[in-house]
Amino acid sequence: MKRIMVTGGAGFIGSAFVRYQLRTYPDVHIVNFDKLTYAGNLNNVKGVDETRHTFVRGDIADAEAVMSAMKDCDAVVNFAAETHVDRSIMAAADFIDTDVRGVHNIVEAAKALGTKRVLLVSTDEVYGSIAKGSFKETDPMGPRNPYSASKAGGELLAMAYFHTHNVPVIITRGSNTYGPYQYPEKVLPLFVTNAIDNQPLPLYGDGKNVRDWLYVDDHCTGIDCALRHGEPGQIYNVAGENERENIVLTRRILELTGRGKELIKPITDRPGHDRRYSIDASKLKALGWRAAMEWDTGIASTVRWYKENEWWWRPIKTGEFLEYYKRQYDNR
Ligand code: NAD
Ligand code: DAU
Repeated sequence: MKRIMVTGGAGFIGSAFVRYQLRTYPDVHIVNFDKLTYAGNLNNVKGVDETRHTFVRGDIADAEAVMSAMKDCDAVVNFAAETHVDRSIMAAADFIDTDVRGVHNIVEAAKALGTKRVLLVSTDEVYGSIAKGSFKETDPMGPRNPYSASKAGGELLAMAYFHTHNVPVIITRGSNTYGPYQYPEKVLPLFVTNAIDNQPLPLYGDGKNVRDWLYVDDHCTGIDCALRHGEPGQIYNVAGENERENIVLTRRILELTGRGKELIKPITDRPGHDRRYSIDASKLKALGWRAAMEWDTGIASTVRWYKENEWWWRPIKTGEFLEYYKRQYDNR
């Protein structure tokens, strides 16, 4: 694989994947195709080797733009998506445009161009909530919010192109990812940056919902393993095997930022809030993948990164972000 199109490569995980590819594979050239929505940020790829990185500003919902950027690429890895559950609850149309229509454009272009690999980055949320045990790839999907439903729609369409048109689609389903450069609407960077500023941490419901935390570089190696060693037509779970109740995560963030529990502000629950996510990654492990980051090190280094990189997140927590924050959290 010499030329890889990465869509959403200016976002959180996509930019980590771009950096990972460039440092790991000296022959690879990345075409980074990103719309630069509110969540996209060129600071996320600042300093990468520009001789092997071509940035194209474009929308995956624009079929012609996708076709033109994908020409000459051996593979496409699709990170581009609307990704925040709370925003999908407020308004779902953009999620359908990007997470379903955008995926359709990618598989159509792959069919026309004969692209050798199409990796769709998806989420453990497509399974829905599980009280005990962990979902395997063979379990049925049961998405319960507009974001996860749009990701499930994109997956079904992409797999239909594998079965009908032989487009070599591989899907990964990752768990909750954390690390540097995550847009601070997601719980972990939101709580860390609020705690740094001595601001309340708005915890939904009873705080006992469980998420499985996966370090961003481990998510990237999981996707890379599926891309290079996985089989077309297959789905691979990428798990952190590191489940935490939200309240436990919140207390850890307070310890690491040196703040007290009076900052915790319980608020009305998220509608349709999935109680617990848990996935089994045995299938990807059989291809040789392992998560490398220990939770204690990962959370401590991530909190340190936000403390040391205010230049990155302070400009984001202005303007559009503050409007969103008000709509989402006021009077709750
Ligand atoms: P993010 O919100 O940080 O970044 C999304 C990126 O996609 C941004 O750069 C944005 O500009 C770009 N984008 C959005 N719409 C686009 C469009 N129409 N055309 C081109 N670019 C567009 O997202 P993230 O957290 O890095 O997630 C990346 C992928 O991983 C998503 O597909 C998401 O569903 C999946 N995922 C995320 C997590 C997580 O915990 N963050 C876990 C599992 C799976
Ligand atoms: O599981 C993978 C998914 O993880 C990805 O597919 C999504 O793109 C990503 O956003 C994430 O979804 P979640 O809804 O799990 O992430 P979020 O950070 O929004 O919330 C994590 C948990 O924290 C969840 O139980 C809700 C809770 N929460 C979240 C926010 C933003 C709070 O208690 N307060 C908050 O302010």
